[in-house]
Amino acid sequence: MQQLRKFKNLLVTGGAGFIGSAFIRTLLKQDFSGTCVNLDALTYAGNLQNLTEIQDDSRYIFEKGDIRNQALLEHLCQEHAIDTIIHFAAESHVDRSIHGPRNFVETNVIGTFNLLETVRLNPHIHFHHVSTDEVYGSLGNEGTFIETSPYRPNSPYSASKAASDHFVRAYAKTYNLSTCLSNCSNNYGPYQFPEKLIPLVILNSLQGKQIPVYGKGINVRDWLFVDDHAEALVQLIHYGKKGETYNIGGETELTNIDLIHQILSHIARMIGKDENELKNLIHYVKDRPGHDLRYAIDCNKIKNELKWSPRHSFSEGLRKTITWYLNNTEWLHALTGENYQEWLSVNY
Ligand code: NAD
Ligand code: TYD
Repeated sequence: MQQLRKFKNLLVTGGAGFIGSAFIRTLLKQDFSGTCVNLDALTYAGNLQNLTEIQDDSRYIFEKGDIRNQALLEHLCQEHAIDTIIHFAAESHVDRSIHGPRNFVETNVIGTFNLLETVRLNPHIHFHHVSTDEVYGSLGNEGTFIETSPYRPNSPYSASKAASDHFVRAYAKTYNLSTCLSNCSNNYGPYQFPEKLIPLVILNSLQGKQIPVYGKGINVRDWLFVDDHAEALVQLIHYGKKGETYNIGGETELTNIDLIHQILSHIARMIGKDENELKNLIHYVKDRPGHDLRYAIDCNKIKNELKWSPRHSFSEGLRKTITWYLNNTEWLHALTGENYQEWLSVNY
């Protein structure tokens, strides 16, 4: 086992988003006696309802603000005596990056740069950067990404994340800062904004809406249940080695069309609907430009060094996820304005 890094006051950026909120919920379930400050600009993807179960915890503080504002970052680090930052805040959706890349550069690159500048001025702070496997580009049918795979980003989103990763590396080398980086595969689970594939398929199928499949549906992603990612990150802020990168993955590679079939079959069983009727909603549409064919992560480093591995099988994670969406129609209503409850009771 690695040496334990002790920390007291943690700044989480983007903690009102999908993965950041899972991280905060996970951290606060543990024996943590410091303060967890959540800095989030509450963009369309940020939602404080993701944190209702911990909002009254005395160890938790919310600060609304933007990582593009460096003076704010420095002020918060002083005010809360921050000794560790874990950085989730980002524009995170590939399709949006294709239609409007500027926000991705401003938040993902400049925002990360501002945080690194803050750490350069306060070098006692440890900085963990949360990144993606998409920086490595696309694989053919064989092979996996390892931590030393070359960077070959293909979308404005992955290019912006790759740029931010390079800045983390450069700041660690040049200024001898304490940094750690993790590159994770596709996450799924409760509270994911329904622009991403899995919640989109669940919600469209529940509402009898078409399910758009890009191209032929043969692109492959490696899926990880979000709480397993959160647990890996809690371990990494305690035990991740200075200057190192860790790949995190779910060891669950699926083509998009296989994934969609699995979701529909679970939903059909859970709500007593005919599976073939749900499959009729599948609708092949024009492919995403620059669509990466396959991602696959080799996560042996974190498995061997930190004894972490994904705890949820895909079937278990998917069942938990669908159950959560079925039981949280109010969250969805607040987010989308659609009345899922009414639709569910009328149609099933
Ligand atoms: P998300 O889009 O659900 O949440 C992003 C959060 O960041 C939101 O709460 C948003 O309000 C906040 N934010 C955005 N711009 C901001 C700004 N300028 N200042 C302050 N806050 C801002 O994203 P997510 O899926 O939770 O992803 C979190 C991180 O994990 C991202 O860095 C992403 O690149 C990375 N990641 C995501 C996945 C995935 O499958 N979703 C996989 C690997 C890595
Ligand atoms: P997505 O959830 O956007 O994640 P990422 O692009 O970061 O991997 O998409 C996952 C896969 O699903 C990707 O191959 C694109 C595909 N996809 C569709 O086929 N239809 C859709 O409506 C969406 C949103 C994604």
